[in-house]
Amino acid sequence: MSSDYKTIEASPVSPALGAEISGVDIAAGIGDEQFAELRQAYVDYGVIFLRDQDITPDQHIEFARRWGDINVNRFFQPVATHPMIAEVRKEADQKANIGSSWHTDHSYDQIPAMGSILYAREVPSVGGDTLFASMYAAYDALSDGLKKMLSTMNAVHSSRHAFGEGAYVDTDLDDLGGRLGNTGAATQDAIHPVIIRHPLSGRPALYVNGDFTVRFDDWTQAESQPLLDYLYAHATQNEFTCRFHWRRGSVAIWDNRATHHCALNDYHGERRLMHRITIDGVALEPAAAA
Ligand code: SIN
Repeated sequence: MSSDYKTIEASPVSPALGAEISGVDIAAGIGDEQFAELRQAYVDYGVIFLRDQDITPDQHIEFARRWGDINVNRFFQPVATHPMIAEVRKEADQKANIGSSWHTDHSYDQIPAMGSILYAREVPSVGGDTLFASMYAAYDALSDGLKKMLSTMNAVHSSRHAFGEGAYVDTDLDDLGGRLGNTGAATQDAIHPVIIRHPLSGRPALYVNGDFTVRFDDWTQAESQPLLDYLYAHATQNEFTCRFHWRRGSVAIWDNRATHHCALNDYHGERRLMHRITIDGVALEPAAAA
């Protein structure tokens, strides 16, 4: 999994995915060689973590631009002074958090985002960890028969049910009001291969999404749901995951095509404030086509 790095050190956090990277100081500036190694580590591990970064919103944006164009989220409340940064916030008196179910971001877009850079500004004294799961491991562990069937299938993804009118009403998410919004903009539908060839690693990865996939293409929703539920449970088995414990100043950079994530909501009564910048991706190709 790992490459030979000269300017960084990578310590894997689980056998399936994720590595904590040391030797990087975003605020001090990152040279081209080190940035190339960071990018390689991101490809190698699916999600990489940095500790003790002290960065301003402008430095966060500048760092994000090294990875690609910034994809401004339509539904998250932006940081007032820096609309390119989405706020992932839960106040001490709020019950619902953002991102508490397993998902990957923005798969409702025709060209889904490459990944996100999440920066911890305030963290609870205990709890608030994020889980990540490897969609390579999920694919690799499928039977040959299911791999073959899924390799020719596509799935329909949508933002409508997740962010559209009524999405948070009368649910346990209703106190997300004010943190998620812009329901009128939830008009995206997209069709993606169920098994993609990862645009950077070339590896096959499972690409269905508990938050945004509505059905398989040419299948009804009722036909699709049992298999989708099977795949979601399969993909998030403990051995395909890692768990990241945040400290103030931690950064996670994840790949939306290679991983899913889930923000644990186990810190009621304390505030957690994260700044997220999402990076543009490319159109996804089926693994079978390569
Ligand atoms: C998200 O889903 O982007 C939020 C992740 C987190 O808050 O840990």
